[in-house]
Amino acid sequence: HFLSCLKGLDLIAREVERRFGYRRVLITPGDADVEDRVKMQMGRLAAEYLLEILKPGMVIAVTGGTTMAVIPECMKQMIPPLDVMVVPGRGALGERVEIQADTIAAKLAQKLGGDYRLLHIPENLGTEAMETITGVPSIKELLKTIKNADVLLHGIGRAEEMAGRRGFKERDIKLLKERGAVSETLGFYFNKKGQIVHSTTSIGLNLEDLKRIRHKITVAGGSSKGEAILSFSRNKYHDVLITDEGAVKTIMKII
Ligand code: BG6
Repeated sequence: HFLSCLKGLDLIAREVERRFGYRRVLITPGDADVEDRVKMQMGRLAAEYLLEILKPGMVIAVTGGTTMAVIPECMKQMIPPLDVMVVPGRGALGERVEIQADTIAAKLAQKLGGDYRLLHIPENLGTEAMETITGVPSIKELLKTIKNADVLLHGIGRAEEMAGRRGFKERDIKLLKERGAVSETLGFYFNKKGQIVHSTTSIGLNLEDLKRIRHKITVAGGSSKGEAILSFSRNKYHDVLITDEGAVKTIMKII
Protein backbone atom coordinates (compact mmCIF):
# COMPACT_ATOMS: atom_id res chain seq x y z
CA HIS A 1 0.00 0.00 0.00
CA PHE A 2 2.84 2.36 0.92
CA LEU A 3 4.52 1.89 -2.46
CA SER A 4 1.33 2.38 -4.45
CA CYS A 5 0.67 5.51 -2.42
CA LEU A 6 4.15 6.83 -3.29
CA LYS A 7 3.58 5.97 -6.95
CA GLY A 8 0.29 7.85 -6.86
CA LEU A 9 1.93 10.86 -5.25
CA ASP A 10 4.64 10.76 -7.88
CA LEU A 11 2.02 11.03 -10.63
CA ILE A 12 0.35 13.92 -8.81
CA ALA A 13 3.74 15.63 -8.44
CA ARG A 14 4.30 15.46 -12.21
CA GLU A 15 0.80 16.84 -12.76
CA VAL A 16 1.41 19.79 -10.39
CA GLU A 17 4.75 20.47 -12.14
CA ARG A 18 3.06 20.49 -15.52
CA ARG A 19 0.07 22.62 -14.54
CA PHE A 20 1.90 25.34 -12.66
CA GLY A 21 5.31 25.25 -14.29
CA TYR A 22 7.32 24.02 -11.32
CA ARG A 23 10.77 22.67 -12.12
CA ARG A 24 10.31 20.03 -9.45
CA VAL A 25 7.58 19.02 -7.01
CA LEU A 26 8.25 16.66 -4.09
CA ILE A 27 5.30 15.32 -2.09
CA THR A 28 5.63 13.47 1.20
CA PRO A 29 2.84 11.12 2.35
CA GLY A 30 0.57 12.29 5.20
CA ASP A 31 -0.86 15.58 6.38
CA ALA A 32 1.22 18.06 8.38
CA ASP A 33 -1.99 19.37 10.00
CA VAL A 34 -2.60 15.97 11.55
CA GLU A 35 0.91 14.72 12.34
CA ASP A 36 4.02 16.72 13.25
CA ARG A 37 6.29 14.10 11.72
CA VAL A 38 5.00 15.08 8.26
CA LYS A 39 6.42 18.58 8.74
CA MET A 40 9.72 16.93 9.72
CA GLN A 41 9.59 14.83 6.52
CA MET A 42 9.16 18.00 4.46
CA GLY A 43 12.08 19.52 6.36
CA ARG A 44 14.20 16.48 5.58
CA LEU A 45 13.35 16.66 1.87
CA ALA A 46 14.19 20.37 1.86
CA ALA A 47 17.52 19.76 3.64
CA GLU A 48 18.44 17.01 1.16
CA TYR A 49 17.44 19.11 -1.83
CA LEU A 50 19.46 22.03 -0.53
CA LEU A 51 22.59 19.88 -0.16
CA GLU A 52 22.14 18.69 -3.75
CA ILE A 53 22.26 22.19 -5.19
CA LEU A 54 24.69 24.01 -2.87
CA LYS A 55 28.01 25.10 -4.30
CA PRO A 56 30.87 26.99 -2.65
CA GLY A 57 30.27 30.72 -2.38
CA MET A 58 26.49 30.48 -2.58
CA VAL A 59 24.18 32.75 -0.57
CA ILE A 60 20.99 31.21 0.84
CA ALA A 61 18.10 33.47 1.89
CA VAL A 62 15.49 32.03 4.27
CA THR A 63 12.12 33.15 5.59
CA GLY A 64 10.66 32.51 9.01
CA GLY A 65 7.81 30.21 10.03
CA THR A 66 7.32 26.91 11.80
CA THR A 67 7.94 24.94 8.60
CA MET A 68 11.25 26.69 7.90
CA ALA A 69 12.23 26.18 11.54
CA VAL A 70 12.40 22.39 11.10
CA ILE A 71 14.90 22.56 8.23
CA PRO A 72 17.98 23.32 10.38
CA GLU A 73 16.80 20.59 12.76
CA CYS A 74 16.74 18.08 9.90
CA MET A 75 20.06 19.21 8.46
CA LYS A 76 23.09 17.10 9.32
CA GLN A 77 26.19 18.78 10.70
CA MET A 78 28.39 19.32 7.67
CA ILE A 79 32.00 18.22 8.08
CA PRO A 80 34.01 19.70 6.51
CA PRO A 81 32.09 22.97 6.71
CA LEU A 82 30.56 24.43 3.54
CA ASP A 83 31.65 27.77 2.21
CA VAL A 84 28.17 29.32 2.07
CA MET A 85 26.37 32.24 3.66
CA VAL A 86 22.83 32.25 5.08
CA VAL A 87 20.80 35.45 5.34
CA PRO A 88 17.18 36.33 6.19
CA GLY A 89 15.09 37.07 3.12
CA ARG A 90 13.44 40.07 4.68
CA GLY A 91 13.65 42.05 7.89
CA ALA A 92 11.54 41.01 10.88
CA LEU A 93 7.89 40.49 10.02
CA GLY A 94 6.50 40.37 13.53
CA GLU A 95 6.92 36.70 14.36
CA ARG A 96 8.04 35.00 17.57
CA VAL A 97 11.82 35.00 17.79
CA GLU A 98 12.08 31.17 17.57
CA ILE A 99 10.55 31.21 14.12
CA GLN A 100 12.00 34.46 12.79
CA ALA A 101 14.08 34.37 9.63
CA ASP A 102 17.13 35.68 11.55
CA THR A 103 17.03 32.77 14.00
CA ILE A 104 16.56 30.19 11.26
CA ALA A 105 19.39 31.70 9.19
CA ALA A 106 21.80 31.47 12.14
CA LYS A 107 20.81 27.88 12.95
CA LEU A 108 21.04 26.72 9.34
CA ALA A 109 24.45 28.39 8.93
CA GLN A 110 25.70 26.57 12.03
CA LYS A 111 24.63 23.20 10.61
CA LEU A 112 26.18 23.92 7.22
CA GLY A 113 29.33 25.26 8.81
CA GLY A 114 28.80 28.46 6.87
CA ASP A 115 28.58 32.11 7.72
CA TYR A 116 25.48 34.20 8.43
CA ARG A 117 24.34 37.80 8.56
CA LEU A 118 21.26 39.14 10.34
CA LEU A 119 18.85 41.99 9.71
CA HIS A 120 17.87 43.38 13.11
CA ILE A 121 15.20 45.67 11.78
CA PRO A 122 11.61 46.01 12.93
CA GLU A 123 8.77 45.83 10.42
CA ASN A 124 6.37 48.58 9.47
CA LEU A 125 8.73 51.49 10.09
CA GLY A 126 7.83 54.83 8.56
CA THR A 127 9.32 55.70 5.17
CA GLU A 128 11.78 58.16 6.68
CA ALA A 129 13.13 55.71 9.26
CA MET A 130 13.35 53.07 6.54
CA GLU A 131 15.39 55.36 4.27
CA THR A 132 17.77 56.23 7.10
CA ILE A 133 18.34 52.58 7.95
CA THR A 134 18.84 51.40 4.41
CA GLY A 135 21.37 54.19 3.92
CA VAL A 136 23.71 52.77 6.58
CA PRO A 137 26.69 51.32 4.61
CA SER A 138 26.80 47.93 6.37
CA ILE A 139 23.05 47.44 5.87
CA LYS A 140 23.30 48.58 2.27
CA GLU A 141 25.98 45.96 1.68
CA LEU A 142 23.92 43.24 3.35
CA LEU A 143 20.83 44.15 1.32
CA LYS A 144 22.90 43.77 -1.82
CA THR A 145 23.98 40.31 -0.69
CA ILE A 146 20.37 39.33 0.08
CA LYS A 147 19.09 40.56 -3.26
CA ASN A 148 21.76 38.53 -5.04
CA ALA A 149 21.02 35.31 -3.17
CA ASP A 150 21.43 32.09 -5.16
CA VAL A 151 18.86 30.15 -3.17
CA LEU A 152 15.63 31.16 -1.47
CA LEU A 153 14.07 28.77 1.03
CA HIS A 154 10.63 29.97 2.01
CA GLY A 155 7.33 29.00 3.56
CA ILE A 156 3.78 29.89 2.54
CA GLY A 157 1.14 30.92 5.04
CA ARG A 158 -2.62 31.33 4.90
CA ALA A 159 -3.20 35.07 4.57
CA GLU A 160 -5.64 35.31 7.44
CA GLU A 161 -3.53 33.28 9.83
CA MET A 162 -0.40 35.27 9.00
CA ALA A 163 -2.19 38.58 9.52
CA GLY A 164 -3.34 37.31 12.91
CA ARG A 165 0.12 36.03 13.86
CA ARG A 166 1.60 39.38 12.91
CA GLY A 167 -0.87 41.35 14.99
CA PHE A 168 -2.63 43.15 12.13
CA LYS A 169 -5.36 45.53 13.28
CA GLU A 170 -9.01 44.46 12.78
CA ARG A 171 -9.38 47.02 10.01
CA ASP A 172 -6.34 45.73 8.10
CA ILE A 173 -7.53 42.15 8.38
CA LYS A 174 -10.87 43.26 6.94
CA LEU A 175 -9.07 45.02 4.09
CA LEU A 176 -7.06 41.89 3.32
CA LYS A 177 -10.29 39.87 3.17
CA GLU A 178 -11.93 42.42 0.91
CA ARG A 179 -8.99 42.21 -1.44
CA GLY A 180 -9.32 38.44 -1.48
CA ALA A 181 -5.93 37.65 0.06
CA VAL A 182 -5.43 33.90 0.31
CA SER A 183 -1.70 33.27 0.67
CA GLU A 184 1.36 34.97 2.05
CA THR A 185 5.10 34.71 1.74
CA LEU A 186 7.87 37.12 2.77
CA GLY A 187 5.21 39.64 3.84
CA PHE A 188 3.53 39.62 0.39
CA TYR A 189 -0.14 38.66 0.21
CA PHE A 190 -1.70 37.07 -2.91
CA ASN A 191 -5.28 36.48 -4.04
CA LYS A 192 -6.69 33.30 -5.59
CA LYS A 193 -5.26 34.17 -8.97
CA GLY A 194 -1.79 34.65 -7.55
CA GLN A 195 -1.91 38.44 -7.90
CA ILE A 196 -0.33 40.52 -5.16
CA VAL A 197 -2.92 42.41 -3.10
CA HIS A 198 -0.89 43.71 -0.14
CA SER A 199 2.65 43.88 1.18
CA THR A 200 4.14 44.60 4.59
CA THR A 201 6.65 47.42 4.78
CA SER A 202 9.95 45.71 5.42
CA ILE A 203 13.37 45.65 3.82
CA GLY A 204 15.01 42.83 1.92
CA LEU A 205 13.76 40.81 -1.01
CA ASN A 206 10.95 42.11 -3.13
CA LEU A 207 9.06 40.13 -5.73
CA GLU A 208 11.16 41.41 -8.63
CA ASP A 209 14.29 40.09 -6.89
CA LEU A 210 12.70 36.66 -6.75
CA LYS A 211 12.80 36.40 -10.53
CA ARG A 212 16.59 36.59 -10.42
CA ILE A 213 17.08 33.93 -7.76
CA ARG A 214 18.15 30.67 -9.41
CA HIS A 215 16.80 28.22 -6.86
CA LYS A 216 13.51 29.07 -5.19
CA ILE A 217 12.45 26.32 -2.83
CA THR A 218 8.95 26.57 -1.41
CA VAL A 219 8.21 24.38 1.59
CA ALA A 220 4.59 24.26 2.75
CA GLY A 221 2.09 21.54 3.56
CA GLY A 222 -0.99 20.50 5.51
CA SER A 223 -4.51 20.17 4.09
CA SER A 224 -5.51 23.59 5.46
CA LYS A 225 -2.77 25.26 3.39
CA GLY A 226 -3.91 23.75 0.08
CA GLU A 227 -5.73 26.86 -1.09
CA ALA A 228 -2.80 29.10 -0.10
CA ILE A 229 -0.31 26.88 -1.94
CA LEU A 230 -2.57 26.87 -5.00
CA SER A 231 -2.78 30.68 -4.92
CA PHE A 232 1.00 30.97 -4.66
CA SER A 233 1.43 28.41 -7.46
CA ARG A 234 -0.51 30.70 -9.78
CA ASN A 235 2.06 33.49 -9.55
CA LYS A 236 5.31 33.44 -11.46
CA TYR A 237 7.72 33.42 -8.55
CA HIS A 238 8.09 29.71 -8.01
CA ASP A 239 10.46 26.97 -8.97
CA VAL A 240 10.58 23.95 -6.63
CA LEU A 241 7.75 22.89 -4.29
CA ILE A 242 8.13 20.59 -1.32
CA THR A 243 4.73 19.73 0.12
CA ASP A 244 2.61 16.93 1.54
CA GLU A 245 -0.24 14.66 0.54
CA GLY A 246 -2.74 16.66 2.64
CA ALA A 247 -2.07 19.88 0.73
CA VAL A 248 -2.13 18.33 -2.74
CA LYS A 249 -5.40 16.55 -1.98
CA THR A 250 -6.97 19.91 -1.16
CA ILE A 251 -5.47 21.42 -4.32
CA MET A 252 -6.79 18.56 -6.48
CA LYS A 253 -10.27 19.05 -5.05
CA ILE A 254 -10.26 22.74 -5.98
CA ILE A 255 -8.84 22.52 -9.50
C1 BG6 B 1 6.61 33.38 7.85
C2 BG6 B 1 7.27 33.62 6.54
O1 BG6 B 1 7.49 33.61 8.89
O2 BG6 B 1 6.11 32.06 7.89
C3 BG6 B 1 6.30 33.41 5.48
O3 BG6 B 1 7.78 34.94 6.44
C4 BG6 B 1 5.53 32.12 5.58
O4 BG6 B 1 6.97 33.49 4.26
C5 BG6 B 1 5.11 31.77 6.97
O5 BG6 B 1 4.38 32.26 4.81
C6 BG6 B 1 4.68 30.32 7.09
O6 BG6 B 1 4.61 29.91 8.42
P1 BG6 B 1 4.35 28.43 8.88
O7 BG6 B 1 4.47 28.50 10.37
O8 BG6 B 1 3.00 28.08 8.43
O9 BG6 B 1 5.40 27.59 8.28
